[in-house]
Amino acid sequence: MIKKFIKRLYKKWASRLPDEDRLTYWEKRAKQMGDLAVLDRRHKEHEIDAVTEFQVNQILPYLKREIQTDNHTILDFGCGTGRFIPYLQKLTQGQVIGVDPIQSLLDRATKLDRVKYHLLRDGKVPLDSNSIDLLWITLVLGGIQDQQLPSTVQELMRVMKNNALICLVENTSKKPNAAHWTFRRKAFYQNLFPNTFLFPVNAYNDFDEEITVFVGRLVKTAES
Ligand SMILES: C[S@@+](CC[C@H](N)C(=O)[O-])C[C@H]1O[C@@H](n2cnc3c(N)ncnc32)[C@H](O)[C@@H]1O
Repeated sequence: MIKKFIKRLYKKWASRLPDEDRLTYWEKRAKQMGDLAVLDRRHKEHEIDAVTEFQVNQILPYLKREIQTDNHTILDFGCGTGRFIPYLQKLTQGQVIGVDPIQSLLDRATKLDRVKYHLLRDGKVPLDSNSIDLLWITLVLGGIQDQQLPSTVQELMRVMKNNALICLVENTSKKPNAAHWTFRRKAFYQNLFPNTFLFPVNAYNDFDEEITVFVGRLVKTAES
């Protein structure tokens, strides 16, 4: 009973941590868990490939049907160990760029042709404006606090070309926020990126939690 109360108190306190502390959290997590750091803690090391394959099957078919041309420049935002990058590299004949604020996760990523990795510093994506055809985000935004989310969205809107595709995968379970994760519902994510017409195209479960796959296309206006 007391243990439960202390745990709840800790979660409440930790969910208000400033973002630098959240990055320290990811650094520590990467150090402790290695490749497993990017998955739900309840998964085991030997399951990583199978979980990734399962997720790819839940996401890619819905994205593929929206791809109209080759030679896309793809941004994997919050790529972690880059486990989706080989799949993204095969998707079109273009270039894939993975960015993440945690260097030790990027160090674990497989180096491939037509793939570059960059460290994300102060939330600034080191890419030109209007340079991305496809923005891929899997299970990243839940790790970003409410206060930092608008500047993150603005930065991603900046790098996307007009007509860019966006594929967003987030945990949309109705759950109280955890220490380093903010649970937001489907409608919130659908409306997060202006003029992208994000639509929930699929959902799957990871343990007891609902993960939603959104796909949309950006129509840039003078303001966006
Ligand atoms: C659950 S992991 C998912 C990683 C990867 N997308 C995947 O699915 O394998 C969350 C990732 O978000 C990254 N991250 C944390 N804060 C971030 C931020 N403010 N901006 C971008 N990425 C961030 C973490 O370093 C970590 O790699």
